[in-house]
Amino acid sequence: MSIDFALSGKRVFVFGGTSGINLGIAEAFAAQGCQLGVASRSQDKVDAAVKRLSQGGLEAAGYSLDVRQPQAVADALADFAGRFGKVDVLVSGAAGNFPSPAAALSTNGFKAVIDIDLLGTFHVMKAAYAHIAKPGGSIINISAPQAMIPMAFQVHVCAAKAGVDMVTRTLAIEWGPEGIRVNSVIPGPIDGTEGMARLAPDEKSRNAVARSVPMQRMGTPDDVAQVCLFLASDAARYVSGAIIPADGGWAAAGARAL
Ligand code: COA
Ligand code: NAP
Repeated sequence: MSIDFALSGKRVFVFGGTSGINLGIAEAFAAQGCQLGVASRSQDKVDAAVKRLSQGGLEAAGYSLDVRQPQAVADALADFAGRFGKVDVLVSGAAGNFPSPAAALSTNGFKAVIDIDLLGTFHVMKAAYAHIAKPGGSIINISAPQAMIPMAFQVHVCAAKAGVDMVTRTLAIEWGPEGIRVNSVIPGPIDGTEGMARLAPDEKSRNAVARSVPMQRMGTPDDVAQVCLFLASDAARYVSGAIIPADGGWAAAGARAL
């Protein structure tokens, strides 16, 4: 039985919400009766996500865009707010990752991940400021264990996600007086996702990762989504500037199997 977080009617926009963990987050909000907007680059993924998210009867809105394009991000949020009203919950989860030794990583490879994860998060948050509910808005940035724990072959992701968490904490201070809460959620290793397929591509490495999690399993997108529902709800009304792992204790244990 799912928990009622009393979010029915809230307007929720999820950047990167067309696959994997972010789609799981969008689906969890839709199941609570929220009005959804999602955005990512692939028009096919956007169309498929909108179809899934509209099944409960509420119309969902989809936007094909690249978070590296600030004007496209701003236009999508303006369109969504024009159609449905102020944004109550903003989730910023668009990201890119691939393992690479630092010595073999080109400047453009490092920059691509910084541009999507860190600059993209800034574009999303800056554009959302005009449309988010004040007071009452909740912003949730999807970070990663790499933000706290240095991992070999992940220098670009470690730098980008550490930056994301500092953006979270900085804007929690700057926007708190207007009643906007800003938090990060750090997923652990989430089974069946693109991120894990890239970092743990075979069964042996997936099993090793699962064993390294104190809870002895990889997570599901819904394990992460439930924390996002809490952060969006009134129960989290005094939670801001927090970096919250949803990882079965993986980061506490050092997240060392990758
Ligand atoms: N190893 C080393 N460098 C790599 C790489 C890899 N596996 N994949 C891409 N790069 C480099 C490219 O060579 C390029 O650098 P160059 O111009 O010096 O050759 C640079 O990264 C940008 O690559 P490009 O393919 O043009 O980027 P893109 O903007 O089309 O895609 C990525 C961005 C690379 C992050 C792509 O993997 C992506 O779109 N990922 C989204 C999905 C994802 O990663 N999901 C998991 C989320 S955790
Ligand atoms: P995913 O399915 O690839 O999700 C990434 C999403 O971002 C996709 O919808 C993708 O869609 C979109 N995206 C990528 N680049 C974009 C860009 N430039 N502009 C707009 N949208 C873009 O991967 P995932 O593994 O579920 O990861 C989701 C989030 O969780 C990421 O923030 C990741 O860092 C974080 N995370 C994942 C794990 C894990 O175990 N998987 C662990 C910790 C943290 P398009 O291709 O259509 O653009």
